[in-house]
Amino acid sequence: MLKKFEKRALDILSKMTLKEKIGQLNQLSTPDKHNAEEFKEKVRRGEVGSILMSVSRGTAGNKADGTIDNAFYDEIQRIATEESPNGIPLIFGRDVIHGHHTVFPIPLGFAASFNTEMIKDSYSCIAKEAANESVHWTFAPMLDLCHDPRWGRIIECPGEDPYVGAKMAEAIVKGVQGDDVSAKDKMLACAKHYIGYGASEGGRDYHRTEIADYSLYNNYLPAFRAAIDAGATTVMSSFNDINGQPVTGSKYYIKDILKDRIGFDGFVISDYWGIRLLTGQGVAETERDCSSLAINAGVDMDMDDGCYINYLESLVESGEVDISVIDDAVKRILMVKLAKGLFDDPYCKPTDINWEEHKQKALYAAQESMVLLKNNDNLLPLPRDKKFALLGPFVHEKDAQIGAWSIDRTPNGAESFYDALTKKVPKNQLLTAPRPDIQYDFHYWFVDMADIVILALGEPWSTTGESQSVAMISVTEDQKALIRKARSYGKKVVGVFFNGRPIAMGGIAEDLDAILYAWHSGYDTATAACDILFGDVVPSGRLPVTMPRLASHIPLYYNVTSSGRPVNNYYGQHSNACYGDGVGSPYYPFGYGLSYTKFEYSAPVVEADNLSLDEIKAGKKFKVSVDVKNIGEYDAKETVQIYIHDPVAVMMRPIKELKGFDKVLIGKGETKTVSFELGYKDIGYYMPSGEYTVEKGKIEIYVGENSLTENKTMITVG
Ligand code: NOJ
Repeated sequence: MLKKFEKRALDILSKMTLKEKIGQLNQLSTPDKHNAEEFKEKVRRGEVGSILMSVSRGTAGNKADGTIDNAFYDEIQRIATEESPNGIPLIFGRDVIHGHHTVFPIPLGFAASFNTEMIKDSYSCIAKEAANESVHWTFAPMLDLCHDPRWGRIIECPGEDPYVGAKMAEAIVKGVQGDDVSAKDKMLACAKHYIGYGASEGGRDYHRTEIADYSLYNNYLPAFRAAIDAGATTVMSSFNDINGQPVTGSKYYIKDILKDRIGFDGFVISDYWGIRLLTGQGVAETERDCSSLAINAGVDMDMDDGCYINYLESLVESGEVDISVIDDAVKRILMVKLAKGLFDDPYCKPTDINWEEHKQKALYAAQESMVLLKNNDNLLPLPRDKKFALLGPFVHEKDAQIGAWSIDRTPNGAESFYDALTKKVPKNQLLTAPRPDIQYDFHYWFVDMADIVILALGEPWSTTGESQSVAMISVTEDQKALIRKARSYGKKVVGVFFNGRPIAMGGIAEDLDAILYAWHSGYDTATAACDILFGDVVPSGRLPVTMPRLASHIPLYYNVTSSGRPVNNYYGQHSNACYGDGVGSPYYPFGYGLSYTKFEYSAPVVEADNLSLDEIKAGKKFKVSVDVKNIGEYDAKETVQIYIHDPVAVMMRPIKELKGFDKVLIGKGETKTVSFELGYKDIGYYMPSGEYTVEKGKIEIYVGENSLTENKTMITVG
């Protein structure tokens, strides 16, 4: 995609001095009032290539930032284009992660929707709002595969599965960048954090990782490849190390794998102060050494570190950094600026925004994301003529369910769960404490008077996101006590969970008759949850991550290889659990979620179950079809999932691997035939060397409603 801008970029490059080139590699944060003039001087001298738009600085996603001042960015852009030596425009980047002013679900919630069209459309709205406020570039999609919900940043990622990650990557990049990223209502996307950040040991943010190349290629890279195939113009290097090599200083991970092997032709930016971090990681003594390591590794732009601007010139002069390395970095940055159209029109041109339409889309996204985990005796949807006792810390909260990394949200912009409930049933049927701070002790008499108890449980978004790892993936002890007490009255109890991360459900789910996992789903979390609770919307989200019984069962994920002995019992394949002190299988598996209806699957049928390897290499595909019948009382969406298992291969392969999904609306009583095509790219895998291989032999194909499905057939590659 960027190749067509190469000639123009080289032409500009040929007129630049070394100092001006290094200026392009320098991203600085928005200055505060006191140093604005000094900052403008730097721009005038050509010492700045990009601005990290932060108003209050160092938000790390857990604070609302200030308002963006378009006039300031226009002025800076005018200085860059009219007064700096080569008139090169600046790129303005910001963390627009799951919404700008209109806040959509957290990315993990988006993943639970299994609705890629909706995700793409949502990100197109998000881009439009942010582009109206001078943002050219968002630091999204975040594509860190994660097996440990203790990690606070699991909320920003697509979950545990490489295929879901790849689909999310494609949808977000296409939504953000569109077909023509130079359009005024589009932004540049940034696939982050390259790579392995989600594998931090123990879920501790910024911690070390160990990732074998076999796993790197098969699990961690697919989402990045998909983002790049979809046209992602930038990539952010991650803070973590892999096997003792900090990624930001690693030529192996950045230059050799990302740029040379995968063929990424955009530019790589470091994460915030990630270059100087190399001293802390013990691979460099000075910031000068850090700069040398990072630029030689292939990190093209320095995020606010000040390292490149301070040391690259002398590093080139001393011969420690070759000028060709600098030229390549500048060329990449110029190509991206050209692709964004900044050389033709560098200024923000606000377009009309239909805020009501965006609100409706955010509501739809929230409805699509929520997952019904339990519904004993079809308790849900709830009848509207009953009395409900409402308890729990999230009954009156407004902001807690919005989600971390929503720095441009309007504070208190969300509706409380209570307010949303009043639109479904009259207030006199809703028994609740008037104030949020007295939810626990005083109001059990409500439970006595009510027919049904609804508990609003979960975690505030401020306990998720960057630097927000937790040891207990659960609800608080207060909430557990609340569940038990509510249970003791013998009434039906519904738990609505407003969580950013999956939690360990053991000891919690048993005491609830119905469970709706609502995530942190943006401004419309409460409305969407109420729509589902009262049957205006039929739930259709599916888990993009495993829900374990106990936190101590982590890591627990579906696409594990078989040891041949009882290890984690994910599929109930062994009569005893691996842990002598309890069942180690998941509480709710990957891909799981209930509906208000039931679906019946036929056995999968393969059109031609035997193809030769040569035919497959030449592009022939196996077509697999299944009939899905809605045998319940509601029109509803089903996410039909196709998994494969290669029973005998050179390398051990996962017990199941997702290779496709299709979210289809099926009317009550109706049957739909759902088909998938599996070809060369789907049935093989990467060897540890990074070579892709498809082997001869049998492959089991499973098609069903979640990762535990046993509905299978077989194909043979001859
Ligand atoms: C650090 C975070 O890791 C990254 O995701 C974010 O984009 C940058 N800071 C900029 O805020």
